[in-house]
Amino acid sequence: MKKFETHVRNIEEKEKNLLEILLLAQGKFGSLSIEVIEYLSRLTQINVQEINDTIEFFDFLDKGERIKNIKVCSGLSCSIKGGKNIYQTLRSTTDETKVKISLVKCMGKCAYSPNLTVDEDSYTEIKLEDLKDLY
Ligand code: FES
Repeated sequence: MKKFETHVRNIEEKEKNLLEILLLAQGKFGSLSIEVIEYLSRLTQINVQEINDTIEFFDFLDKGERIKNIKVCSGLSCSIKGGKNIYQTLRSTTDETKVKISLVKCMGKCAYSPNLTVDEDSYTEIKLEDLKDLY
């Protein structure tokens, strides 16, 4: 891992050389899963959406077995307006081998509580009956 990180850190103009970085990562990890994308984002300081867009553009990049990543806001406003119930419902009704569910702190959209994200998509004023259409 250290060798890979050193190699990537030594690449100049990382955004221009993102494809090279993605090919290196694919060689190292086998595929470019959400977890790999988040790791690369931290390593390169390139945002997740840009990395994901590049992967989607090139058919030869292996997205692997993508699991959905749902983040439910656990801030006060969202919790009061049903976020806690949404989180518990998702946890009890979702196959967690295909969907990763986690709590995050305030998403900064308190006026539209409760909030959650599915991968890069944001959803506001979520109701329990909306959950079946999320993914
Ligand atoms: S408390 Fe959920 S967005 Fe602020």
